[in-house]
Order: sequence, then C-alpha cells, then structure tokens
Amino acid sequence: MRRKIVAGNWKMNGNRQFAKKLVEDLSSVAGELKDSVEIVIAPPFILMADAVQNKTSDLKLASQNVSNFDNGAFTGETSADMLAEFGCQYSIIGHSERRALFGDLDGVVANKVAKSLEKGISPILCVGETLEERDAEKTLDVIRGQLDIALKDLNEQQLKQVVVAYEPVWAIGTGKTATPEQAQSVHAFIRNEVAVKSQLIANAMPIIYGGSVKARNAKELFAMADIDGGLIGGASLKFEEFSEICKAIG
Ligand code: 13P
Repeated sequence: MRRKIVAGNWKMNGNRQFAKKLVEDLSSVAGELKDSVEIVIAPPFILMADAVQNKTSDLKLASQNVSNFDNGAFTGETSADMLAEFGCQYSIIGHSERRALFGDLDGVVANKVAKSLEKGISPILCVGETLEERDAEKTLDVIRGQLDIALKDLNEQQLKQVVVAYEPVWAIGTGKTATPEQAQSVHAFIRNEVAVKSQLIANAMPIIYGGSVKARNAKELFAMADIDGGLIGGASLKFEEFSEICKAIG
C-alpha cells in the first residue's frame, strides 16, 4: 500500500503560542494515526523552532519554501541545509501562491527541487491549473509541463523521494473543491506521467490533493484510487477540523 500523507500548510498564519499548542495537540494525533497516515505541518519559517521544540517525532515537519541557492549573500532566503538542520523532512515547492506572487516559475521550481533533494529533504511538488486553463481544456498540458520541467533532471533515487501535490488554483482558498472524480482523473494522469520514467516509482509515489479540503469532503476525496492524502490550507489551522481530515484516511 502507498504511503498516505496529510500535510497542513499554515501559510503566513499563527504565532508562537498558537504553534506550541497546535503541535502539542497534533503530536498525539500523529502518534495515534501513525500506522495509517503521516501527518506533516508546514509552519512559517519563524515558527519552526517553536514547532520543533514542542512536537514529537511522529509529527513531521515541512517548510513552505526553500532557497534555490546554497548559502551566501541572498537576503531573506532560507537554505535547504538550514532546513535539514531543523529536521525538516519535506519542503513544499512550487505552490501556486509562490508561482503567482513571488516569481517561482518552472525553472526556479526545478532548482528548488534539486536543492532540497541534495540535503535529503523530500519535495512536495505542487502542480495545478488556473480556471482559465481548465476552461480552455488545457489542464493536462499545464500539469505535464510543470511536471516535465521539475522532474526532468532527477535520477531514480531522487524521483523516489518526491511527493506530488495536485492543487487546482481555482480550488485554493475558494471553498470550491474539485470533485473526487475531477481530482482522481488528474491524479491518475500524474501517475501515468511519472510511470513513463519508472512504473515502480509511479506506483509508490504519494500524490496528494489540495484545494478547499475540509472535514466534510475529505473522506470522499481520499477514497479515490490515486489520491493518497491532502495538502490542507485553511482547515489545517483548526485542530479539530484538521484531525478529522487526518482520520478520514484509510
Ligand atoms: P485551502 O485548503 O485553504 O484551499 O488551501 C490549499 C492550499 O493551498 C494548500 O497548500
């Protein structure tokens, strides 16, 4: 069976007290559910120390971004090396907010994937189409393009470490979730694209869905054959709701 992952992307939310309480509470849920799902949190960089100090090892840590440079005169950046030192196991890369607002275009995304892998951090590579692209029936072309550029230089050892998150841009923070069937068809497409490189790796790769996942719709999404969990924004800030989403797996 494939590894299941539910990751909470806090985006630019929270404070130290919030982080302490949420990671303490989530650590016990992560312990209870560890045989069925890996629970991951991605706090803002500045709250990472609080997260690390207050969580158990059952609750995994992700960054929301990583620098495409190693170290040096890069004001405002955080390197993969620094993240690895904090025990970061995952890094969210190519989130549509970063692509749209901060210039993380496909080439930069590919560099960030490479940098995180160099330090043993698994990229959670985000792909997804805008509403315009979906309406123009370009969804699969867009996804193929994003995957191609981000994954093209990886060898099999590296590809094995990658998690893909399908996040349709029109579903993020809008309350409009993709239907389970819409999401499933893109997830199956992503798996087939990876299978061109390696069927074995494609079969084992967690492909998670993001975009307005809530406790009320998680179960039907996670029931789909190629949906291996979720990348959760707003609902990951609420302990009860996020726990319910984690419990909806399996
Ligand atoms: P929402 O769950 O708030 O729609 O955000 C999804 C997301 O962008 C996770 O990375």
